[in-house]
Formats: sequence, C-alpha cells, structure tokens
Amino acid sequence: MAIKKICVIGSGTMGNGITQVVAQAGYETTMVDVKQEFIDKGMNAIKASLGRFVEKGRVSQADMDKTIANIRTSIDLKQAAKDADYVIEAVFERAEVKTPIFQQLEEICPKETILASNTSGIPIGLLASATKRPEKVIGMHFFSPVPMMRGLEVVMSLLTSEETVKVSLDFGKSIGKETVVVKDSPGFITNRIIPLVMNEGAKLLEEGLASMEDIDKICRLSFNWPMGPFELCDLVGADVNVDLLEGIYQQTGWERYKPAPLLKRMVEIGYLGRKTGKGFYTLFGTK
Ligand SMILES: NC(=O)c1ccc[n+]([C@@H]2O[C@H](COP(=O)([O-])OP(=O)(O)OC[C@H]3O[C@@H](n4cnc5c(N)ncnc54)[C@H](O)[C@@H]3O)[C@@H](O)[C@H]2O)c1
Repeated sequence: MAIKKICVIGSGTMGNGITQVVAQAGYETTMVDVKQEFIDKGMNAIKASLGRFVEKGRVSQADMDKTIANIRTSIDLKQAAKDADYVIEAVFERAEVKTPIFQQLEEICPKETILASNTSGIPIGLLASATKRPEKVIGMHFFSPVPMMRGLEVVMSLLTSEETVKVSLDFGKSIGKETVVVKDSPGFITNRIIPLVMNEGAKLLEEGLASMEDIDKICRLSFNWPMGPFELCDLVGADVNVDLLEGIYQQTGWERYKPAPLLKRMVEIGYLGRKTGKGFYTLFGTK
C-alpha cells in the first residue's frame, strides 16, 4: 500500500511536531484542529523549529520552504481526512475525546486508510473498537520534541493486522524514526519505565535521603542521563507524571505505580514545572 497523503489531527505539542517531520520527509500533510488560532499557533511552532534547524545549518532554507509547502491546514476533519492514506491522531489524552474521532474517521476515510493514535496510554484496542476496521488501527507513540527524538513505539492491539504493522514500520522509517513494536498494554514500554524514575526520585526526597540536587546530580553523572528525575519532572510536568502513574495503577493495581504523595502535593499547589513557571527546582532548589 503506497502512503502519500497524511492527516494529523491536533496541532498541539505533538501534532505540530509530527506534522513537521512527516512534511519534511516529503509527504503531503494536512494538520487539523478545532480552531484557526490553534492551527496558527501550531504552524508558528513548526516555522520556529525549522528556523532553528536552518540557523544551525542542519536544514537548508530550500528544504524548509519545501516542508512548509507540503503542509495544508484545516478546521474541517471531513475535508482533511477524506483522501488520507494514513491518519495520526494527537488530540487530548482522554478517551471521550479520542473515541468519537475514530468513529468519525471510520465514516470519512477510505476503507484502506490506516488510523493511528499517538496516545500515551489509552488502549489501542478501545479506539479500534470504535471503528469497523480494527485491523487497521495502531498506536504510533512519538516522543517530544518530535523533530529531535528518534524513537517511535509502534503499538499493536490484539486486532491490529501484520500488514498494518509492516506499513507503519516502513512509514516510521521513512520519516527518520527508529521503531520498536510493543503489544497494547498500560504504559507500553517507555511509560512503564520513566514515570517510575520520577516517582522514586520523589520518594527519596520525601524520605530525606539526599537533597533534590544531589539525586539529580548522581543520576546524571552515573547513568550519563541528560537530566535527573526532578529536572525531567519539571520538564514533563508533575501533572502529566501523576496521570501516567495513576493510569497504569488503575488499569493494573500495581502498587509501585501509586504516585508518591509529594508528587500529588506538587500538582495540588500548581507547581507543575516549566509549564507553570514553578516546580521542584523552585521549591527545593538551593541555587
Ligand atoms: N506532550 C508529550 O510529551 C507527549 C508525548 C507522547 C504522546 N503524547 C500524547 O499525544 C497526544 C497529544 O498531546 P499534546 O501534548 O500534543 O497535547 P496538546 O494539548 O498540546 O494538543 C492537543 C491538541 O488537540 C486539539 N484537539 C482537541 N480536540 C480535538 C478535535 N476533536 N479535533 C482536532 N483537534 C483537537 C487541541 O485543540 C490541541 O491543539 C496525547 O494523547 C498525549 O498523551 C504526548
């Protein structure tokens, strides 16, 4: 199956990043959102990101222009998805927002169109069961910032066909990503591991075993990680981290995914990290 036209639903952090890399790889790409102002914000983010690559000499001005020319935008899902070969949904992480989109896509898209979700943890099987083509529904879990992060988790539900997985792996490779296949399961691979690191960091701090800065420092220096658990949490958002942990805990009952009380306190007082301008480093930092 030849993939030529892509529709990306959502123009937020992930949607605009995915649109950028897909258009950069030469695909005709339409980015959809519910309001023009969100689209404009997404397009500005794409132009700013490409502009930074041009400044660093990693992308030529001509390639930036070509990438922008490959992007269409729309606030009409029907118009945007009606002739798409591959759709990637990247809207809010709520089943009640995503499921109706998959129901609509079932009506709008040609029957051979593959429907992918960038969900961080909503079961792919649940989204697939909103359609009459569950074998063509798959998870394509990109990472932020999408133009920088090379990994891509390809998530197959119990009903995803081998053909859909193959086409998706080829597509992922064509946009410059390194793929791994994982079965549909709470947190997939990455979100099973990384929230535990931040949770355990918060527990160490609560127990008073070391200072926050020393916990980050020893993780950076000993594991060669670019950042420690608290730096990461301030970047990702304490709220996102608590949601990931609670999502897995609710689905599995595994005690280790119960959010540390300190993480929950941070959310309650609005110390979410960079997005609210205050986080672990505001409260516990000494520098
Ligand atoms: N941010 C991350 O680091 C990250 C990483 C991996 C996966 N994800 C997943 O990607 C998805 C998107 O996350 P995000 O961080 O980009 O969110 P975001 O809030 O930045 O963007 C979501 C966008 O979806 C739009 N939207 C909402 N309902 C819509 C609809 N019915 N039709 C079209 N557009 C609609 C919103 O207007 C918004 O612009 C989520 O499922 C999230 O879990 C996020």
